[in-house]
Formats: sequence, structure tokens, C-alpha cells
Amino acid sequence: MTTAVRIDASRLWQTLQTFATFGATPGGGVTRLALSEEDKQGRDTLRAWAQQAGFHCEVDELGNMFMRRPGLRPDLAPVMVGSHADSQPLGGNYDGIYGVLAGLEVLRTLNDRHIQTERDILLVNWTNEEGARFAPAMLASGVWAGVFSRDYALGRQDRHGISVGEALHHIGYAGERAARAQPLHACYELHIEQGPILEAEGINAGVVHAAMGQRWFDITIEGFAAHAGTTPMNLRRDALCGFAELVLAVEKIGKQAGDDGRATVGMAQITPGSRNVVPGAVFCSVEFRHPELQVLNEMEAQLAQALDTLRQRNLRLLSEKIFDYPPLNFDAGCIRRIEKAVHSLGYTQRRMVSGAGHDACYINRVAPTAMIFIPCVKGISHNEEERISPQWAEGGANVLLATLLLAANES
Ligand code: GLV
Ligand code: MN
Ligand code: MN
Repeated sequence: MTTAVRIDASRLWQTLQTFATFGATPGGGVTRLALSEEDKQGRDTLRAWAQQAGFHCEVDELGNMFMRRPGLRPDLAPVMVGSHADSQPLGGNYDGIYGVLAGLEVLRTLNDRHIQTERDILLVNWTNEEGARFAPAMLASGVWAGVFSRDYALGRQDRHGISVGEALHHIGYAGERAARAQPLHACYELHIEQGPILEAEGINAGVVHAAMGQRWFDITIEGFAAHAGTTPMNLRRDALCGFAELVLAVEKIGKQAGDDGRATVGMAQITPGSRNVVPGAVFCSVEFRHPELQVLNEMEAQLAQALDTLRQRNLRLLSEKIFDYPPLNFDAGCIRRIEKAVHSLGYTQRRMVSGAGHDACYINRVAPTAMIFIPCVKGISHNEEERISPQWAEGGANVLLATLLLAANES
């Protein structure tokens, strides 16, 4: 038995379940795309909860929400905590939002216990982490960290041609404050693992010391749309047949990159998309991930070769790299605090590498940062069936609380 302060587990679980109603799908998950009506509902509720707990909420020009619990020393740099509230289409109830609401629960617990910290604690909800509605992922934390310009981010468009700037105005979250990094003492993101390791090994907390690098490409394959009944096979320039070859080539690239290789074609649009028209064009995504830069370079070179091969089909190929970040290591000091916190709670832990992208990966460029993972059932994520247990949720929030108490009381 330890004397560490604990969060209110039933309040946290209730808060998570309430939030899961925003964008709830019949399959038990959520579709809460960035800056949608569902995202607005969630944001409004989060802001109301934060205000009820006495925290001022500020919104920046990218819609990032910052909720501050003041410490005793406003002259010291704050400690940041948070994640994202947007989801994938037909996504799960915990990816992202768990880290935001566990952060809120930690702040509520500090209030209940009348615990004052030396440093301010800043709870953040980053806009458009998923990159599902507006590519690329981690767009707004990327602006905050100086990776993307504000204008580039505001101009990114969804499939219907609606820009981030327009969507922000539409839901009333185009704030005044500049989306620009401020000095931070430390930053923590708590997240579900989205992989199978912690559950399989029965471990409470993953201490994330590194993250895979990623490269995303937008690819357009142009052939020629033609009549399906009158155009002989040898005269066709079928973009979808070229696409089929590309998908298999991408799979091969991923498999050849070893156990840590990841290669995915996750999205495709066929034009014109009619049963009796030879497909004239396909627009698709390709993404690669790996913890080693050299291997990512090789994967990219192999993609270029695969595209060259497709040209033999008399197709036109356009490829644009829209997202590229190198593998990274998180901050050693931030990691040490997490390990100490887990130990103080009597929980089990192991170090891990994140295969997923996270806002923390960008914040790590401008402030000392690290991540905490909790188990999720069978590692299922980006799926309506994503599940965690109330005990796992509680454990992670306790680790976050203990970690923040260490960081926010350093002078
Ligand atoms: C973000 O969710 C990612 O794709 O890793
Ligand atoms: Mn996430
Ligand atoms: Mn995600």
C-alpha cells in the first residue's frame, strides 16, 4: 500500500462515457472528426467542465484549447498535459480523449484535495491530431511547435473543399491567441497503447521513450475513363488496375522492412466510380512508419520504383510527400519522473516505442516531453471496438497525477 494521492476512478469513467456520446456510432465507437459538429459538442462540454472546476480556457487561432490551473509561482514555466478529442471515422472511445479527460480528472483531484503546485498546469486539447479530416496528422500541435506555418494549416482542405480556417469559424473555435510555443518545464501525453503488448504482458504502464518516424504521400494515378462495354482490354488505361498493383507493392515494402516496418494504403477515391466505366483516376494515400531513418529512406526509394513500374501501364503518376517526421527520442528527465511515479504507486512498467503518431512527438521538438501508455483490449484502435477497462483508465490517470506532482513542484 502506498500513500500516493489517487484520482476519483468513477468520476473519470463517467466523464469518459459521457464524452463517448459525442459522435457515438451504432457500432459502439465514435465518429468525431476534427472541427465537425460532434467535435464542437465535445469541445463545448470540455470547456464547460473546465470552467466549472475553476479553470480559465483559452483558444488559439488553430482551435487548440488551453485550460490552466494556476500554481504558486507564475514566474515559472508551466507543465503541460493533454492530447486530442478528434477521432478517426468509426473510431474508438479512448484514442486521444482519454489523455485529455484523465488530465481533467487530475486537475479536479488536485482541487478536491486542495493541493497547490509550484508551477501552473496547462491542460490542452490539440486540434486535428488524427489527420483523418484534414491531412496531415498533428496539424495544430505542429503549428504550435513551429513545424507548419499557420497559413499552411488554416488552408488545408477536407474532401469537400472546406478549409481548416472555414471549419474553425463555423464551429466558433477560431481563437485569438497565436498558435506558438511557449516555454514549458515539461509536457506529458497519456494515451492508450493502441497495440497489444501491455495487455499481453499484464503491465500497468508503458513508459514511452521513443516514437517511429512516418512518411505520408498523396498519390494520383491517372488513366483514361472509358466505356466498359465497348473498350477492348488492350486499349484500356485502367487507373484502378494500376492502383491494385501499387497496393500490393506497398504491402511488400512494409513486409521487407522487418518486424518494425509499417506500410499502409488507407484511403482511395476512384473517379468516376461507376460500374460500367473503366476507372479514369485513383487518388490514394500511402504511409510508411519505422523506428530507423535509414529504413524509412529505403521504403521511400522502393515506393518510387513501384510507381515507375506502373508507368509501363501507360498511366500518369503524381506523388507528393505531405508528411515526414523522423524517428524520435523523448526527454530523459521526463521519462525518469514517470518511472518514479509508477514505482511510487506500486504499479508495473516497461519502456516502449510508439508506433502511432502523437502530438507529443511535435511538442518534443520545443519542450522536454514524454508519454505514458495504458493497455487496451487486444491492441485494437482506430476501430469502434477499441476498449479499455476502468482499472486501466484509473491506473494511467494515477500515474499522470503522480508524474505531474513531481514535475509541477520542481522549482
Ligand atoms: C495517429 O493516430 C496515427 O496515425 O498514428
Ligand atoms: Mn491519438
Ligand atoms: Mn489516432
